[in-house]
Amino acid sequence: MDYCRKVILLTGASSGIGRATVLKLAAQENKIAITARRKELLAEVAEAVRNAGSECLTFPGDATNAKHAEKVVRDTVNRWGRIDIAILNVGAGPATNLLTSSAERILGCMRANYDSMVNFYVPVLRQMRAQTTRGLITHINSLASYFGIPMQGDYTAAKAAARILFETARMELEHFGVDHIRLQTIHPGFVSSKPKQDKLPRPNELSLEAAADHILRAIRSETPEYRFPAGMALATRVGRIAPLWLKTKILLGAAPKQY
Ligand SMILES: NC(=O)c1ccc[n+]([C@@H]2O[C@H](COP(=O)([O-])OP(=O)(O)OC[C@H]3O[C@@H](n4cnc5c(N)ncnc54)[C@H](OP(=O)(O)O)[C@@H]3O)[C@@H](O)[C@H]2O)c1
Repeated sequence: MDYCRKVILLTGASSGIGRATVLKLAAQENKIAITARRKELLAEVAEAVRNAGSECLTFPGDATNAKHAEKVVRDTVNRWGRIDIAILNVGAGPATNLLTSSAERILGCMRANYDSMVNFYVPVLRQMRAQTTRGLITHINSLASYFGIPMQGDYTAAKAAARILFETARMELEHFGVDHIRLQTIHPGFVSSKPKQDKLPRPNELSLEAAADHILRAIRSETPEYRFPAGMALATRVGRIAPLWLKTKILLGAAPKQY
């Protein structure tokens, strides 16, 4: 979908990939609603968006709270009348160890990556179904959603759940003849969003700038499952068909001895 003079909602805009993407969208005379918990950072992003020529509404709040998400969608529509593009970007994947992790921590990762998406997906989809104009909901997932990865177990499980939810909802849009809405999942490989404390290997890591360019390209093409960068996307494709023993050997070979 073209992303010029559109009403766009982007969650998780205070830093990283979300911030880099919204700053690029700002140059296209859009009306952009942004969310995140860190109010001051969000306000800084909003100022940069307005300086670049787009309108901006900020909604500080926690994406794991369904009421927050409902209010963001309602207030955005009250102000601008519709939502054309929603980029559901909130997520986090700190390193973990499933032998020592608590239930609370594992479920917290699910809330951060899965609930945070579902909370927005539901009211945005409802709104777009009521519109007659075309709509696109894009979820920023991860190449890590395709199989379990040591140190990333809770994250890969949450992202896999989100991938399958979108895959199924996409089938249902087709089944029920809803042809003005597109659901898209974008799977980045490693992106240098912030300094990492863990020793997780990060092959082919991309800059934020390059990741945001990929996201805009994906939105324009409306490719249902967009994966980048190409080398990591290919490695993931091979990993999906490799026998489990081989995948385990390769992944454990890359994992630090202690974590
Ligand atoms: N970086 C990578 O290598 C990589 C690779 C593949 C996929 N991804 C995915 O890309 C997305 C963005 O990640 P990133 O690397 O750019 O991380 P990031 O710099 O930490 O950005 C995450 C954004 O989400 C917001 N956020 C997190 N939890 C939230 C919550 N509960 N409620 C509201 N906002 C929340 C953060 O803002 P506040 O903290 O201010 O709330 C921040 O704006 C994530 O979904 C991640 O899984 C990243």
